Amino acid sequence: MTDTMAPVRPGKLIINGQAVDAASGKTFTTYNPATEEPLCAVAEASAEDVDRAVQAARAAFESGPWPKLKASERQRLLWRLAELIEKNADEIARLETLDNGKPIFESRQIDLPMVVNTFQYFAGWVTKLAGETLPVSPAFFTYTLREPIGVVGAIIPWNFPMIMVGWKVAPALAAGNTVVLKPAELTPLSALRIGELAIEAGLPPGVFNVVSGKGSVAGEAMVRHPGIDKISFTGSTEVGRHIMKTAADTMKKLTLELGGKSPNIVFADADLDAAIRGATTGIFYGKGEVCAAGSRLLVDSSIYDEFVARLVERAKKMAPADPLDPKTRLGALVSKDQMNKVLGYVDTGRKEGARVVAGGERQAVNGKGWFVQATVLDGVDNRMRVAQEEIFGPVLSVIRFDGVDDAVRQANAIDFGLAAGVWTTNVKQAHAVARRIRAGTVWINTYNFYDPGMPFGGYKQSGFGRDLGPDSLRDVTQVKSVWVSTE
Ligand code: NAI
Ligand code: MG
Repeated sequence: MTDTMAPVRPGKLIINGQAVDAASGKTFTTYNPATEEPLCAVAEASAEDVDRAVQAARAAFESGPWPKLKASERQRLLWRLAELIEKNADEIARLETLDNGKPIFESRQIDLPMVVNTFQYFAGWVTKLAGETLPVSPAFFTYTLREPIGVVGAIIPWNFPMIMVGWKVAPALAAGNTVVLKPAELTPLSALRIGELAIEAGLPPGVFNVVSGKGSVAGEAMVRHPGIDKISFTGSTEVGRHIMKTAADTMKKLTLELGGKSPNIVFADADLDAAIRGATTGIFYGKGEVCAAGSRLLVDSSIYDEFVARLVERAKKMAPADPLDPKTRLGALVSKDQMNKVLGYVDTGRKEGARVVAGGERQAVNGKGWFVQATVLDGVDNRMRVAQEEIFGPVLSVIRFDGVDDAVRQANAIDFGLAAGVWTTNVKQAHAVARRIRAGTVWINTYNFYDPGMPFGGYKQSGFGRDLGPDSLRDVTQVKSVWVSTE
């Protein structure tokens, strides 16, 4: 773990095309979850810094070069940023792993390419966003303009920090908005680095600002700021609800991507080898700190015992290990609080009558770190708290069902609706169940797949609005109707 000792530069805010200290001079410390040691000091934005960033973003939106650029020029700048992220891939991936605790395999091989692809995908859209000419009457020439909303405030979580920068910033900039982004206080480093690269790429000052700081201070200031037109948030349902109420005062537009407790349904006719792999990556990828994690595994009664036995065998082999080791597949949870919350849920499960059949404990690596074992709770009832609440850790709740109607009923008996998995070799059943599940994403015979071209977002209390895909562009634009009298 000696690599951890390589210095990490202190983080500065990115405001108006410059890396700056907070106005107050205040900083906070970000930690490495695998060693419990401080990584570096990071500038801590106050309401004053948020205001500076919003002023810069407003000026860039209203009078800077940004709104006057040709679409092809904006496209070139986004593509250039993608190239710079790729060029600095090793450094950014390492920062992410040090800051978040996730395996370097995930940061470098999955997350980093996703960020690059996201900027490239939306760079492609810049020259293709168009209004329509609508035939209303010979007395008028009537058309629509698809225009940016203005200044977009992006508030992102700690589980996929750099991916979230791509998902929120790329579509907003592609559509001609400017952005103020607040990374989570636990994992600010990759967003600040991408903010620096945006300056290097030649984005005009104020187009993309990054304000690291507390949710209750900097985040709150963003949601209240009258100079921000839209908030795009990913995080907990509780904070999402609070943001929705606060945003009402300034009538901000909102995209909210919130929690989940996604059902991963294994029918008796499934390819069981594939389903076992899908159930495992569905919950243990990203340490289970994944909004779309397949955290409720629903298994048909007729294969239940065999399936759980195989799952337990696999989970027991998934020991937590040094996140910087390329072979590691289970890293450290992001913070001590998160670890304690997850272990608390394991206890809750025990008290509710579930059986811990794999893992369930903290397991230090090299004597340190906020690691939790790959955990399987057997005999869970869908009404238990461990079936209904987002645990956000490597803890799988396994629930039994009898037949397709019971599977669908239990899958939908929850307030969330972010994602679902269906494992079956019956094509008709696969498509029929996909329609009956109330969730924003349904994976059939696969799990946890994402692409910049496919929209992602929630049904029910998992939120509304979409990241990625053509649909996300609707959420960062507004439509103007223009009437021209021709008589
Ligand atoms: P959170 O929802 O508090 O944090 C997400 C972002 O919102 C962070 O950037 C935070 O600074 C910001 N924020 C917090 N309070 C705010 C406020 N009043 N106004 C504006 N922004 C604010 O999530 P947290 O506390 O880090 O994690 C708590 C739990 O939330 C986790 O244990 C997990 O269950 C869930 N969670 C779910 C996520 C998801 O993607 N579904 C992501 C992160 C957390
Ligand atoms: Mg950290």
